[in-house]
Order: sequence, then structure tokens, then C-alpha cells
Amino acid sequence: MAQFSSSYLDELISRTDLVEIIARHVDLKASGSNMMGLCPFHNEKSASFSVSVDKQIYYCFGCGKGGNAYRFLMEHDGYAFPEAVEFLAHKAGMAIPASRAVNPGEEARKKRGLALLAQVAGVFARTLQADEGAKATLYLEQRQLPLSIIQRYQLGFSPAGYGFMQRCFGDDKDMLQQLEGIGVLVRNERGYADRFRGRVMFPIRDKRGEVVGFGGRVMGDGEPKYLNSPETDFYHKSNLLYGYSEHRDAIRKRKMLVVVEGYMDVLAMAAFDLPYAVAPLGTAITEPQLRLILRLEAAPIFCFDGDKAGRQAAWRAIERMLGVLKAEHNPRFLYLPDGEDPDTLLKKEGQAAFEQRLEQDALPALDAWLKGLQLISGEGASGRAMMAKKAEKMLSGMGDDYLRQAWQSEVEKASGVALTHQKGNVLVAKPRAVKVQKRARGLAVSPLKHDRFMAGLLQKHARFSKLNEDAFEFFVDSDPAYPIYTRAFSLVGIEESTILDIAAQLMREFPDNHDIARWVNLPTVEDDEFDILLIDMQVSYLDDLLRSRSLGLAVKIRLQAELTTLKAQQKLYQQNQKP
Ligand code: UTP
Ligand code: MN
Repeated sequence: MAQFSSSYLDELISRTDLVEIIARHVDLKASGSNMMGLCPFHNEKSASFSVSVDKQIYYCFGCGKGGNAYRFLMEHDGYAFPEAVEFLAHKAGMAIPASRAVNPGEEARKKRGLALLAQVAGVFARTLQADEGAKATLYLEQRQLPLSIIQRYQLGFSPAGYGFMQRCFGDDKDMLQQLEGIGVLVRNERGYADRFRGRVMFPIRDKRGEVVGFGGRVMGDGEPKYLNSPETDFYHKSNLLYGYSEHRDAIRKRKMLVVVEGYMDVLAMAAFDLPYAVAPLGTAITEPQLRLILRLEAAPIFCFDGDKAGRQAAWRAIERMLGVLKAEHNPRFLYLPDGEDPDTLLKKEGQAAFEQRLEQDALPALDAWLKGLQLISGEGASGRAMMAKKAEKMLSGMGDDYLRQAWQSEVEKASGVALTHQKGNVLVAKPRAVKVQKRARGLAVSPLKHDRFMAGLLQKHARFSKLNEDAFEFFVDSDPAYPIYTRAFSLVGIEESTILDIAAQLMREFPDNHDIARWVNLPTVEDDEFDILLIDMQVSYLDDLLRSRSLGLAVKIRLQAELTTLKAQQKLYQQNQKP
């Protein structure tokens, strides 16, 4: 799973200027050997965000966010780890390791595509401002979108009729193919045709702010109301959110995020000085989109229409959210009056009333869930039984132990049915419930092995990636070093990242913990040793777990299978180590 060697990652960091990366977002001023500025992760009036030039790390004394260039690109700009590496490698002029490198032709093609998309957005925008766009301008005026918003979001216009793209870009065969590839030309028997005709154009940007596609609205009535880009190499509607790159900074600063249904809702909110909305692109919200939303740590409010379709959409969102939801996320649900959306409401009642709705009427996710359960389960004793049944099934898919237990006890209260005695069934797929009680029991392996393991972990970032989430949860929760793991994980990112300076950061954050320094100073743990330690720890933990009597049969069988595989691996390692 590890895709980049740690020496490569360290080398790349040493060739990267973190100050330059951060200065794109933060006004930095020299202060001693550090640079200081206003933290881009939280709202503040005096600078507590520092960038260490020697160490090439950043740290905010206000909110505690910190890390290196990879971390910043991931946390601030929303890059996935490999994307962050590619971005920096490109900047530093370093080649990407062979196993990761996309072929160079492919990369050049992608670049050209993005450049062309940006050009097309520019052409649409200029057309809106020109005489040709008079009708569209009128339409947007009617919808009360101020010019500043039209410009900031680069709205545009695609004229009716065919041949506009060719007129702008020529009809060179290669160009036509490119225009087809970015989704603005459609190919049919007779040749190429414009996909968007006579529509107001909304450029859709990816998290880096590059235009990757468009939504186009008819002016007035017509079908379809919105026509969107097809799936292309650039545009993947289930991974994108309208407004995300434009609003990310404001969302972080204000700790406000509202998820709405449509492009116009996002823009109307921005027009009313509420620049913190995002919208999926004409589909129900997807898990990747939820991850993007939750990662911004802004307690998102999901707005839904108050009618039946809106309630169903809300229910789907809840269902989808359970796997990724954590106790710290705190999402809320707001049902708007029947037939209204944020755009119409803002125009009717203004900004203050709308903000008041957001503050006062949004239901915590738990309440929305209980309400939804009640609605679909019906009345009386059988209704309450149905409620418990459905709840149990949904709870089993929840990713966060603590949240699951909290929700479980609420649903038990609401339904009058105890779910705990069915533990063995609820948790068929996951040994999670047992973990919590396990935590207090302490180490499953010898302290010596545990020390070597922790030392190994803190020596190479790539090792974190070996703890895929499942294995991590197997034993980490049972370990007294639990808070250190979790903090380290949040510092490196769950995917994989670098360990550079993370140990130092941990020591700062856990001043009473002297183990960290001890681990850091232990002799090097080689990769082989680390791999076997990882297996040993899992085996000991599973052995322990299986001996406990509280397991359901299904769980036991699953864990037994897991253990058998691990033991086989353990044996292989031991044999290899013999001379
Ligand atoms: P709505 O039908 O609720 O439209 O679609 P809206 O956002 O209120 O649009 P206005 O205010 O009439 O202009 C919500 C979202 O669903 C997607 C679009 O993303 C739209 O913003 N949609 C809708 C489509 O993709 N295609 C359609 O034909 C309709
Ligand atoms: Mn609308």
C-alpha cells in the first residue's frame, strides 16, 4: 500500500519551500526565525499561526493545527496524499516514482484539457457580457444576482444554435476531439455539435479551483432545466461539490457550512453575504462528497425541502452518512417550508430571517434520525418494535463506536426496546463493541514488543499506512497509547503521510508522556521487524479477544478466520528469519 518511499518523501520536503505554499493563502510576516500570520484554519484577529523555516513545519498556537507541506495541502487545499506529493514534486521538478507516475503523455493531455476548460469558461463569461448575452444578463438580473457574484463565480452564456465552439476554437480535428473530451462538444453522425446552447453557464471547479465542467440553465422554462457536463476525465459529478473551492476558506474561518440542493441556492446565499454553501451536482449526496464536507470541521447544516421528496432526500443523506460520521462532526438538518429553497427564502424573508432559521430550526442528526425512524416505523407497540429493528440495522453500519453507543441508547429510550442483548447479531461484521471494554485491559503484547512497535511507527511515516483502518481498530483501541495513536493519525492523515516532526509535535502536545521521547530514541526498527511486530500485535489481540466469552458466534467465526490468516503469515516470517 505504501506508494512512496520515505526517503523520497523526505527529499521532496527538503526541496519544498513551505513558506511559498502557505503564502498563497496566508499573509506571512517574519518574526524571529519563524514566519507568522493569521491562521487559515480558524478565525482570529491576532496572528498565532507560525511557519518554521528551518523545520519546514507549520503550527497554530490557537487551534493546534500543524504539520508539513503534505499535511497543509491535504488539510487546507483538500488534496489526497498522492495528489499533494504530485503537486510538490511538480513544483520541485522532481520525477514521481515510477510506480506512481502517470505516463507523461497522459499528464500533458490532462494539462491541456484543464487549460482548455478554463479558456471555454472565459469565452462563456465574455459572451455573457457581450451584446449576445443581453437576454441572459436580463435573466440573471431578474433572479437578482448582483454583478459581483456573476463575476466572482464566472457565470457565462452559451448562445443558441450550433457552431459556437468551432467559431471560437476553430475546427482543427485535434481541437474538436479535445473539446469533445472536456464535454462541451457532442459527436454525432453529422459531426460535432455544441452541447450547451442558449443556456446560462455555471463553471464547476474541483477542489483546486480548476474548472472541470459546467452546468447550464435554460432561461425560463424548458427541459432539461439544467444540463450538466457528462462524465469526463475531469468531471466526476459524485466527487465534486459546487462552491467547494470558492467557499472553503470562508467555511473554515466562519465554521459555517450549509449544504443546499442547487447552483442558484449557493449563489443566492453568497449574494446575501453567506458565502459558505456547497451543493452536489444534481444527484443525491454521495459518500465522497460527505467526506469532503465533514473534513472541513464546520458542523454542516444540510438543507432540505420540507415536502415528501425533501424528507426522503434527508433520509438518504442520513443513511449514507452513518459510515463516515464521527462524534466530533455534529451535522444538522434543516427542513425548509414546503416548496421553498434557500434562494426563494432569502428573497422573501431576507438574510437575517434565513440565518435565524439556520441557527434555530436545524435539527441535530440524532433528532433527525429518530424522527425519520418514527416516521417510517408507524405507531404503537409494533411501530416501536419496527423502529428498534431498523435502528439496529443502521447502527451496525456506524463507523464511530462512541457515537453508535450514544445513538443506541437514545433509540432504546425512544422505542422502549433494549438492543444490547442482541449484540452478537448487531455486530456481525465488526468486532467493535468489544473493543471499548477492552481498552481498559491494557497491552495485549509484551511491553518490549510494544515499545519496538511504537518506535517503529514513529520512525517512518509510511508505516502508518500499514495500519489500515481495520487493523488499526483491532488493537489500537485496546492500547493505553490510544490517544497518541489517534493524534498521530490525525497529524499524518488517515491515508498516509509523513512522520517528519510529528514526534516533536506529539511531545509538545503530551508533555507528561515520557514514552514518546523514549520511543523516538530507541534503535532503528527495520521494515521486517516492523512487519512481524504488526502481525504479532494483531495475533495477540485477537487471541485475547476470542478467549473472552461475550462474543456472538458469527463474530467468533469471522475473527477466527482472520486469526488463522495472520498466524499463517506469522509462521512464514518466522521461517524466513531462520538461517
Ligand atoms: P431544482 O430543480 O431544485 O432547481 O434542482 P433549482 O436549484 O431550484 O434551480 P432554479 O432556482 O430553478 O434555477 C436542484 C439542482 O438539481 C440539479 C441542478 O444542480 C440544480 O441546481 N438539476 C436540476 C439538474 O442537474 N438538472 C435538472 O434538470 C434539474
Ligand atoms: Mn431554486
